Amino acid sequence: MKILHIAGSPKGERSASRKLADVFLRRYRALHPDHEIGDIDVFDAAANPDFGAVHAIHKLAPLFGEERSEAGTVAWVDTERLIADFDRADRILLSCPMWNYSVPWAVKRYLDHLMQPGRTFGFDPKTRQHFGLLRDRPVQFILTRSSTGDDDPGDFQLPYLLHIFRQMGLHDIRVITACKTTKATAPERLAYLDSFTPELEAAAARF
Ligand SMILES: Cc1cc2nc3c(=O)[nH]c(=O)nc-3n(C[C@H](O)[C@H](O)[C@H](O)COP(=O)(O)O)c2cc1C
Repeated sequence: MKILHIAGSPKGERSASRKLADVFLRRYRALHPDHEIGDIDVFDAAANPDFGAVHAIHKLAPLFGEERSEAGTVAWVDTERLIADFDRADRILLSCPMWNYSVPWAVKRYLDHLMQPGRTFGFDPKTRQHFGLLRDRPVQFILTRSSTGDDDPGDFQLPYLLHIFRQMGLHDIRVITACKTTKATAPERLAYLDSFTPELEAAAARF
């Protein structure tokens, strides 16, 4: 059994979402010591490189009746690697802060690699509906924000993530959101994060 943790904050040890993910994974490891847990830091440009002009042209070339270039084929090796690593996982954990009502740009860059027509999602021209091409499996989102509430109309983080994962065919999505991570003192911040331990441990046991 393989677990993939997608780490969506650049703050390392100081990241609230990573701290919450660590609690979840500690419990999961205790329950399943033989399961393999892999990690991708989306801010690491070697692991999650730029998705730019070469990729965009390569992606749509067949739809435009164009030949794919050698540069595009070389660049696509990273995209394929990221999709393969994602698809190999039996369980997916995403820890992710909110940045300006949405996800950090590096999380978007990662999802731009994953979302490929004919590979991770399909399109039915008759119904004009997209559909997922990946197998469904448990997904846990652990999201953090400092002030934007659960029902805020300005929440483009959770609806966006739900939509993208469902588009790829992943529907078994569980969500834990810590909406008030900003506190004036470190002990208050830690106490707030600690208050999620029972929920995180219960989610890890169900994962
Ligand atoms: C660039 C940036 C933009 C942010 N935008 C929002 C926001 O729109 N709404 C919000 O509630 N918090 C926002 N925050 C606060 C973070 O979501 C919050 O501090 C979160 O706990 C950070 O998680 P992390 O420590 O795992 O990175 C923002 C933080 C940063 C650095």
